[in-house]
Amino acid sequence: MTVTDVRPPAEPRSRQASSPDGSRPLKVALLGCGTVGSEVARLLVEQADDLRARVGRPLELVGIAVRRPNRERPGLDPALFTTDAHALVTRPDVDLVVEVIGGLEPARALILAALANGASVVTANKALLAADGATLYAAAEEHAVDLYFEAAVAGAIPIIRPLRESLVGDEITAVTGIVNGTTNFILDKMDTEGAGFAETLALAQELGYAEADPTADVEGFDAAAKAAILASLAFHTRVTGADVYREGITDVSASDIASAREIGCVVKLVALCQLSEEPEDGSGRSVSVRVHPAMIPRTHPLAAVGGAYNAVFVESRSAGRLMFYGPGAGGSPTASAVLGDLVTVARNRVRGAVGPGESSYAARRVSPIGEVTTRYHLSLEVADVAGVLASVAQVFAEHDVSIQTVRQNGRGADAQLVVVTHRARDAALSATVEALRDLASVRDVTSVMRVEGE
Ligand code: NDP
Ligand code: HSE
Repeated sequence: MTVTDVRPPAEPRSRQASSPDGSRPLKVALLGCGTVGSEVARLLVEQADDLRARVGRPLELVGIAVRRPNRERPGLDPALFTTDAHALVTRPDVDLVVEVIGGLEPARALILAALANGASVVTANKALLAADGATLYAAAEEHAVDLYFEAAVAGAIPIIRPLRESLVGDEITAVTGIVNGTTNFILDKMDTEGAGFAETLALAQELGYAEADPTADVEGFDAAAKAAILASLAFHTRVTGADVYREGITDVSASDIASAREIGCVVKLVALCQLSEEPEDGSGRSVSVRVHPAMIPRTHPLAAVGGAYNAVFVESRSAGRLMFYGPGAGGSPTASAVLGDLVTVARNRVRGAVGPGESSYAARRVSPIGEVTTRYHLSLEVADVAGVLASVAQVFAEHDVSIQTVRQNGRGADAQLVVVTHRARDAALSATVEALRDLASVRDVTSVMRVEGE
């Protein structure tokens, strides 16, 4: 296991050394010119003078790889466009590559080719980083170049650099966030306007928040990828998207949202990355990483995060609680984060330095969802007969799950029971739900959702 938080300055590459006067522009290749890439290109052109002043050298956009080179791209020189992305990233004069194509391939192969060619890479590709970040880090390390990815989590919000650099001297114990703009936009509109799922998703797509395949948003894959990246950085442990317990929002119903309202909560898709306490058996602290819809109290700061905004709460031993908030999706906010990285890696290159690499020395165990402790909210349709409450309570007791509140609403011959539990292991809670479904007096379990953020 190696600790590679801070790498020594890179050996100057031949093309750096060939410009001792410092006047040679740094050449930038852009991969992708969609929602994010078109904004990056626009800012590179429009802010060229300021960027030159901030870096100390001009940033020259030398090529843009796309699928459809003949498409109208206002304000950009048509001669820049190519479909041969590999040729672009392996050009011997390219210093910096920005990858905003998305997805696993060809993005992965292109980034590896760019790094092998000695170029520093800025990417917004959380799917790739969560699936195979280790390979990308290793390639950057091997070729002594930078790999930066601020835009990969929470759009414009600076959260990668705070975790990777500012808080690296502290012990982070939890990172909790709303990290997907599309689902927050949908849930917010369902809560505040009673809007329908499909029409709100279509609007999010139109506004450029959603992924190319919006399944990644609504099924929680996008948030899970971001949670994996956050947990890896926070806990110095390699966490991949596959390690993250994940549920999306497609099963969240208007009745769940109404139930949440009745107990003073709002439904949000939350990402929870937690470091366990030191166990008594000496087996070492583990981490848990999960993404799912949850009811959170309306008084909780995350409850106030509306629209496509994101927020990330960081809890650490010395700094205490920090909250990061801002636009989590969309071309312009995301381009801000990409440009921030681009200036940073350009400055590093001018100085012959590289920023931090992977830090995974802690190598903590990632615990399965069953070991996590949480609270559940359940709505049950039951027969309104003598003893039903006792039989339901008995099931909770048999699974060692303590009930915090229970409310019964009469509905003719039937009744609705709303139960909120105390904290218990998730495995015990889900076994309780299964056993309730088998009870003769329980007609249906209409809603089950975790409750977070006491
Ligand atoms: P888009 O789908 O809008 O754009 C993708 C771009 O990549 C298009 O220009 C497309 O070309 C080009 N492209 C696709 N396949 C290829 C290929 N094989 N070779 C060359 N070019 C290709 O995606 P976004 O801009 O929304 O997202 C880009 C990245 O940024 C993704 O990783 C995403 O997760 C991330 N991101 C997006 C945010 C957002 O709000 N949209 C926020 C944060 C991160 P063409 O134009 O010809 O179709
Ligand atoms: N589709 C993502 C979202 C883009 O909705 O948050 C930002 O990563």
